[in-house]
Amino acid sequence: MKKVLFVCLGNICRSPMAEAIFNHKIKEIGLEGQFKGDSAGTSNYHIGEDPDPRSVETIEKNSIRISHKGKQFESKHAEEVDYLVAMDSSNRANMQITLANADKHVYLMREFDPKGHGDVPDPYYGGINGFDDVYDILSRSIDDFIDFLKKEESL
Ligand code: 4NP
Repeated sequence: MKKVLFVCLGNICRSPMAEAIFNHKIKEIGLEGQFKGDSAGTSNYHIGEDPDPRSVETIEKNSIRISHKGKQFESKHAEEVDYLVAMDSSNRANMQITLANADKHVYLMREFDPKGHGDVPDPYYGGINGFDDVYDILSRSIDDFIDFLKKEESL
């Protein structure tokens, strides 16, 4: 079982959505025995909390289930997971500091976005439309990320 950890700042908006979408798509293609998605945040702001209600609403209206408790990204995750995926470059930089010299690659989510690169925008201070945009970015990026994983793992 290969583990994927999606990481944002608060672990209540973007990365729990990425985790839910990833696990949903993996199950849809029958690879739930091969891959498992999880998520974390670089900050300690929302440890133990449920996802933001706007993330829950957005995910559920796309007929996907979401269930996660906020946790902070730690250096031990480098040993526990196979793939690290940051939602934006600022969180990737903070992860790299946390990882120090633990030689572990951190991918950016939108490296896999067929429609454009850069950051998955932080929707926290905006309205519900921002969450719909994040959903669309994540859904198409995760499709290509799964193709990448299948090649990496020769599946
Ligand atoms: P996330 O969004 O990183 O996508 O979970 C945020 C959640 C909370 C905060 C910032 C961004 N905050 O400042 O509390």
